[in-house]
Amino acid sequence: MILVTGGTGYIGSHTVVALLDKGYEVVIIDNLSNSEESVLNGIKKITGKTPAFVKGDVKNQQTLDKLFQDYPKINAIIHFAAFKAVGESVEQPLKYYDNNVNGLIQLLKTMESHSVNKIVFSSSCTVYGQPGILPVDETAPVVKPESPYGNTKKINEEILFDAVKSGKGLKAISLRYFNPIGAHPSALIGELPIGVPNNLLPYITQTAIGIRKELKVFGNNYNTPDGTCIRDYININDLANAHVVALEYLFNQNVEYDVFNLGTGKGSSVLEVISAFEKSCNISLNYSFAPPRNGDVEKVWANPAKAKKILNWKAKISLEDTVLSAWEWENHYRKQLKNN
Ligand code: WQD
Repeated sequence: MILVTGGTGYIGSHTVVALLDKGYEVVIIDNLSNSEESVLNGIKKITGKTPAFVKGDVKNQQTLDKLFQDYPKINAIIHFAAFKAVGESVEQPLKYYDNNVNGLIQLLKTMESHSVNKIVFSSSCTVYGQPGILPVDETAPVVKPESPYGNTKKINEEILFDAVKSGKGLKAISLRYFNPIGAHPSALIGELPIGVPNNLLPYITQTAIGIRKELKVFGNNYNTPDGTCIRDYININDLANAHVVALEYLFNQNVEYDVFNLGTGKGSSVLEVISAFEKSCNISLNYSFAPPRNGDVEKVWANPAKAKKILNWKAKISLEDTVLSAWEWENHYRKQLKNN
């Protein structure tokens, strides 16, 4: 049985679907601080299965102890539960260090006391900052990231590495995501940003559906072909599948600690994403240029060769299909809201 912390969240819910589809039993713990319990309905409709769900906080030792006692078949963890808003982390660093770092520490302590020794950790390419060499591979230097959010990812990777090296049998994999976007092809689950979206694609779909007046493109004078920032946008379902593959690597191979970039290997600019959206969804998007956003790196995209070589995983779904899935989810979700 796999414990998925943050399993009603964006990446968590898609990973739960991939696990259930692969025949795994799943229990979710989520404090619903940035997701809705109704996500479980979508998971059930897609897979025909209902994962066990515990509403709770991974920082709470009693909650975790009870969870491991109630579900003694847990033999691995995929850890998503964390705050992830870059801007908010700059304003409230202590909230991020407490939640993201203490959450992992509490989880590792409880795993040890319940003899559960496998964990897949949700990390981020933000640990590379602005890489000197592109595409960026796992040997690139990890720098002090631009934001406290990114720094919690760097610190957590170091905690995992040290915990593995302490020789108590822990096995861990850190997955460094690039930019997860899109939704499940059923349009029954997707990204559910609460409030004004920080990230590009939900802002695009909310602009297209009329919730936002226009998209502001943060900066168009960067040293890139069209002047806008470049990122590696990876389909959420490809990303979810990578978690199942990484988990099976932990189960089947004699690995102690390892790190993998999860990206497509292709960089796309903000304007390229907008044009892919306009073409795939047949919509003309209302946007204008604004000054660059603090903390943004200019360009970053993955060298995904290591995940291909060792995990035999690669991203398959195109940017065009991915932005269309985000649009279909936006429409489905708004229709759902109207009907409720
Ligand atoms: C992408 C590009 C923006 C919004 C962050 C975290 C990363 C991960 C994903 C959590 C940038 C531009 C955006 C808008 C814009 N975090 N943009 N107008 O910043 O690359 O990555 O989110 O899972 O760890 O660092 O993603 O989607 O915010 O921005 O022009 O309204 O889109 O400037 O160039 P980012 P993003």
